[in-house]
Amino acid sequence: MKKGILYSYEKFLPLTDRTPRLSLCEGDTPLIPMGRLGRELGIDLFGKYDGLNPTGSFKDRGMVLAVSKALEEGAKALICASTGNTSASAAAYGAAAGIPCFVLLPAGKVARGKLAQALIYGAKVLAVRGNFDIALELARQAAKEKGIAIVNSVNQYRLYGQRSASWEICDELGSAPDWLVLPVGNAGNISAYCAGFEFYREIGRIEQLPRLIGVQAEGAAPLVRGCEVDQPETVATAIRIGRPVSADKARRAVEVSNGQFLSVSDDEILEAQKTLASTEGVFAEPASCAPLAGIIKLARQGKLPRGLRIVMVLTGNGLKDPEGAMLRAGEPVEIEGTSAALAEVLGQ
Ligand code: F0G
Repeated sequence: MKKGILYSYEKFLPLTDRTPRLSLCEGDTPLIPMGRLGRELGIDLFGKYDGLNPTGSFKDRGMVLAVSKALEEGAKALICASTGNTSASAAAYGAAAGIPCFVLLPAGKVARGKLAQALIYGAKVLAVRGNFDIALELARQAAKEKGIAIVNSVNQYRLYGQRSASWEICDELGSAPDWLVLPVGNAGNISAYCAGFEFYREIGRIEQLPRLIGVQAEGAAPLVRGCEVDQPETVATAIRIGRPVSADKARRAVEVSNGQFLSVSDDEILEAQKTLASTEGVFAEPASCAPLAGIIKLARQGKLPRGLRIVMVLTGNGLKDPEGAMLRAGEPVEIEGTSAALAEVLGQ
C-alpha cells in the first residue's frame, strides 16, 4: 500500500481523478503514551509526535494536499510566508512536485534548522525586515497579483489535510480523547482539528468532541488577550504571531468544544521542553512544548481534573531549533582524554 495521507485518508479528502497523489510518506505519526509525566500529573497523557513527519512538523499533512491541488489547478509556482515550518514543508513538496517555491520569512527570527531546510530544498528564500504578519500580507498580495498558488493556511486545502491528525488520534484510541491541547500561532491547526473531530462525529466514529485547549506564548497571545498584538515576541518563534489569520475559526473551535485559550511564559515553555525531553525521551521544539507548559500550569492552579485522557500535539521536531533547546539544556562536561579523568567523573 502506498503511504501518505492522500492514500490513508483518500475517501475523506477532496481528491478527484485528476489530483496528482504526491507523497513524502507524511502522517501516521506515533501517539506516544507518556506514563511518567502522566503519573506525576494524575492524567492519562499522550503526545502526538508530529515532529516525525518528513520535514519535521505537522505542516506536511496540509502541504501535501495543498501542493497536489495546486498542481491539479495548473499552478506554476508556490508562495508562502512562514515562521519556519510552513516554508520547510512548502519547499520540500515544491521540490517533489518540480515547481519553484518562494518563501517569505521574518528576518533573523527563524530557527536555523528550518532556514537550512527551505534553502536545501531549493526554495527562493526571502528574509523580510518585519514580522510574520507583515510577510503574510506581502505573500497574499503577490499571490493575487502574480497568480502564484499561496500555500499558507488561507489555502483551504492546508487545513483540510491537517484534519488527518485528528482522525489518526481517534482511530488509534478508538474514541476521542477528553482534551486535546495544542500550540496556537496563526490558529489554523486548532481549526483543522475541530473540523476533523466534527467530521468524525458526523460519520459516527466518535461520540463527542474533545475539549480543545489552545496554548499561546504570553508575548504573542492575541487570542487570550482578545486583541491583536503589534509586536509579538517569544522564544517559541514558530508561534510568534500577533494577527492570526484563522482567529475567528479558532474562537469557534474553542466555543463548540467547550475548551479554552491560555498563555504560558517563555520560561514555562523552556522548562516544559526540558521536562518532556528528560522525562519521556521526546525532543520537541519550543512552540510544541507550550501545551505541556499549559497542562503543568493548570495542574499547579488546581484546574486539572484527575484521570482525564489528554493528548498534547507535539507539532515540531526539537532538532529544528538547537539554539532554542540550548537555552535550557546546559553545556557538556569537558574532560581530559584519560581513563583517570573519566573515572573521576563516573565516581568509580
Ligand atoms: N507549532 C509549530 C511547530 C508551528 O510551526 C506552528 C505554526 C504552530 C505550532 C501553530 O500552528 O499557526 O496553525 O496555529 N507555524 C507556522 C509556520 C505559522 O509558518 O510554520 P497554527
